[in-house]
Amino acid sequence: MQLTALSVQRVRKVRSLKIYPSTSVNCICGPNGSGKTSLLEAIHFLATARSFRTTKVRDVITHGEQSLLVNGEFIDSSGQLNRIGIEKTFDQTRLRLNGDAVVVASRLARVLPVLNFNSESFLLLSGGPSIRRSLVDRLMFHVEHRYLDTLKRYYRALKQRNMLLRARSAPREITAWDEQMLPEVTQLDLWRRNCVAAINEYLSVSPVSELIGKLQLEYYRGWNRDTDFSIVLSMNLDRDRESGTTTLGPHRAELRVKIDEKMAKSVVSRGQGKLIIAAIVGAQAKYLSENSSEKPILLIDDLAAELDRNARLIAVDSLLGTDSQIFFTAIDFKDLPNHILESAKVFHVEQGQTQPVVIAQ
Ligand SMILES: Nc1ncnc2c1ncn2[C@@H]1O[C@H](COP(=O)(O)OP(=O)(O)O)[C@@H](O)[C@H]1O
Ligand SMILES: [Mg+2]
Repeated sequence: MQLTALSVQRVRKVRSLKIYPSTSVNCICGPNGSGKTSLLEAIHFLATARSFRTTKVRDVITHGEQSLLVNGEFIDSSGQLNRIGIEKTFDQTRLRLNGDAVVVASRLARVLPVLNFNSESFLLLSGGPSIRRSLVDRLMFHVEHRYLDTLKRYYRALKQRNMLLRARSAPREITAWDEQMLPEVTQLDLWRRNCVAAINEYLSVSPVSELIGKLQLEYYRGWNRDTDFSIVLSMNLDRDRESGTTTLGPHRAELRVKIDEKMAKSVVSRGQGKLIIAAIVGAQAKYLSENSSEKPILLIDDLAAELDRNARLIAVDSLLGTDSQIFFTAIDFKDLPNHILESAKVFHVEQGQTQPVVIAQ
């Protein structure tokens, strides 16, 4: 899927702006505070109805205004042109797909997969397990259409089980939910395991692995890999009743980012961390391009900062060649390797101004 037109109104400093992106590589350039990240944020809004910087829409709507509006046109995998739009006020979200109101944001997310690389991405290394878990969940959401429902059924059963644990209900009532959970647990574990294995295939041939060490994601399914989940639940019943919560299961799954078998976060510099994240985003993009019906859009913010020339080349090469539409931002387009610029469409943004100037082709 590729975005062919983007119109942004009242998103941070960007009052009104329309661009016609390239279906392959785009560079959004301009000084600090000109609105580059805001443009990526606007695309992210179209795809997910959320910002990647804040949970408060009030922060994103231009100060003094009551709403933001983002409209886009995109070509889907069947070659069809679609119109998509989102309007957000302080307390309401209106989504439209080809003129029809869309109630569930995940419907848009399905047609418009996006992958991000930005200052938040460091959380992939330094943040809690839920961030890495959601990486797999988001990929599987696009690749396996039964995934979301399976995950929801699991979480519903988990919630019920936890309620009974907290209420100190009879063991027989609790174990009734164990049976409900089992098929979902087995399925989730299998899907997640296969997803991580596929990502690792891409990572093992990434130039980043050559440069800084063997990069791999280690999957922990949420309980001991040698034990059946039904046995885990019954063995832990007393402990679970004591603590009032289900201590093990897919909700505790974790991905460990490893370099040469060591936890990446404890051995890499900030620049190397950036390279690792670029490699992981690139691997995700390849995985989606090859396994989901819609190819992702890559929103890559400020890749060049903190990287030397060689690292920039490697980071960019991890992302190009994924067959995805890419939006890079940079202060100066010369910060990006020359070979990108040969095929890229470059937009210059100043002061979130109404019309960007195309400065080079
Ligand atoms: N809600 C808002 N309304 C108006 N301006 C905003 C709002 N939020 C942030 N800004 C301004 O937008 C600019 C940030 O834009 P950003 O897209 O992050 O710039 P860049 O990525 O080009 O450095 C800052 O100058 C900030 O003061
Ligand atoms: Mg920025």
